[in-house]
Amino acid sequence: MSQTNTLNVDYNYRVVRLFALTTVFWGIIGMAVGVLIAAQLYWPALNFETPWLTYSRLRPLHTNAVIFAFGTSALFATSYYIVQRTCQVRLFAEKLAMFTFWGWQAVIVAAVITLPMGLTSSKEYAELEWPIDILITLVWVSYAIVFFGTLVKRKTSHIYVANWFLGSFILTVAALHIVNSMAVPVSAFKSYSIYAGAVDAMIQWWYGHNAVGFLLTAGFLGMMYYFVPKQAGRPVYSYRLSIVHFWALIALYIWAGPHHLHYTALPDWTQSLGMVMSVVLFVPSWGGMINGIMTLSGAWHKLKTDPILRFLIVSLSFYGMSTFEGPMMAIKSVNALSHYTDWTIGHVHSGALGWVAMISIGAIYHLIPVLYNQGRMYSIALINTHFWLHTIGVVLYIVAMWISGITQGMMWRAVNTDGTLTYSFVQSLEASMPFYLMRFIGGVFVVAGMLLMAYNVYKTVRAKEESLQPVPAAA
Ligand code: HEM
Ligand code: HEM
Repeated sequence: MSQTNTLNVDYNYRVVRLFALTTVFWGIIGMAVGVLIAAQLYWPALNFETPWLTYSRLRPLHTNAVIFAFGTSALFATSYYIVQRTCQVRLFAEKLAMFTFWGWQAVIVAAVITLPMGLTSSKEYAELEWPIDILITLVWVSYAIVFFGTLVKRKTSHIYVANWFLGSFILTVAALHIVNSMAVPVSAFKSYSIYAGAVDAMIQWWYGHNAVGFLLTAGFLGMMYYFVPKQAGRPVYSYRLSIVHFWALIALYIWAGPHHLHYTALPDWTQSLGMVMSVVLFVPSWGGMINGIMTLSGAWHKLKTDPILRFLIVSLSFYGMSTFEGPMMAIKSVNALSHYTDWTIGHVHSGALGWVAMISIGAIYHLIPVLYNQGRMYSIALINTHFWLHTIGVVLYIVAMWISGITQGMMWRAVNTDGTLTYSFVQSLEASMPFYLMRFIGGVFVVAGMLLMAYNVYKTVRAKEESLQPVPAAA
């Protein structure tokens, strides 16, 4: 399916539509599993003593579903859209683009089957076993060919900054995935990492942190640099700042991984280097946030009436919040308190639910009417309700985790005058329970919002189909 526009370019929207619709679908599944595991932490009986329903197996299913099924589908959809629109050409190698769609769905389905079965390489965010890793590599290389091929055949002289971020995300994720997944297979579903000991940990967190930096950050910044100006109807606040933002961010992120391994067997100097680079990372992160928010200069009033713009701008505020919090948590003395506690989980979700999910939701609401040739979404009021459900849900989630996390950290380190621990672990768990309930309620709000989104998208798509029906002849 293709569509021409005012420039008379025949864009390929078929693959963009497929990825946009699966973003919503996988978003609901991934977040619903999040709600289930949040409920299990409060009501442990919810694992029903069934191995594939246990927390340990569903937790990686949640992380894989939200990051790789929901978040990455949103990135595929928006990058294929942005690269065509900003280069004013149709996608390069369209069949390969369709292969990326079906290949990626196959990866997700394989994850949905194997993770609850307990098949895992046990590397966080890289749990999938080696046959699936090979499929991921094939899809990702094809993705790179489609994206960069489109850039090469562009009709514009300039490469718009969103494509810089998206290109760096695609290239870096390929390198991270291939290096970190190097393993020796011992059977069809079991392999062992080729790295050992502290080197394995270092490679894993070089991967883990740069997955945050390039997938959960650079990719979504690409989205931000296209959809915020589009939705606001204003040019980017400072194009020069966006280029400085890009180079500073990619130059710094790659060094920050060791902040996940403070006080471990990793050489001390690497921990300190990771800490310093993480603290400096605050500067370009905030430069980017300010650039995005200031794009609204002269159009602030639109926030009152446009809930899509509100999704995009509030996502940037969460981006600013998590990139302030992250550098603080990377300081070794702060990490001594935060590590292993729910504070980390709060940080993760202010980035994941606040930044990643909100920017994606805003972008998809912008995209769907364009892709289906409708003036606007079926119901703006429903988008508004979604915005409030999501915002309240995220705030409930992260506030609960901050309180619970700092309480845990303080209780674990409290000692009596004779040097014995003041609290047992179970006491700290009991103190966390009310906040687990609060997190669960926050999650229910978020999923309720996603269901409204699905309904709104369905009605918009159906409106397009109805408008294509032959009009019955007048009686
Ligand atoms: C309804 C929304 C969500 C709920 C209720 C939820 C719930 C949870 C829960 C209960 C955990 C396990 C926490 C623990 O082990 O103590 C978790 C972990 C995680 N979630 Fe979510 N989540 C949601 C949405 C998301 C989204 C949208 C993303 C990413 C885009 C995400 C990314 C993650 C990650 C990366 C972890 C692992 C954190 C770590 O290991 O430090 N979550 N989530
Ligand atoms: C300047 C930017 C950032 C810095 C310096 C930073 C730093 C940190 C630190 C120090 C931790 C705790 C490590 C530990 O104690 O184990 C952490 C965890 C984490 N952060 Fe960030 N963060 C940043 C931004 C973000 C953003 C924007 C996101 C998400 C979109 C994010 C996602 C995560 C995840 C998923 C984890 C948990 C990893 C795990 O243990 O499973 N971070 N981050």
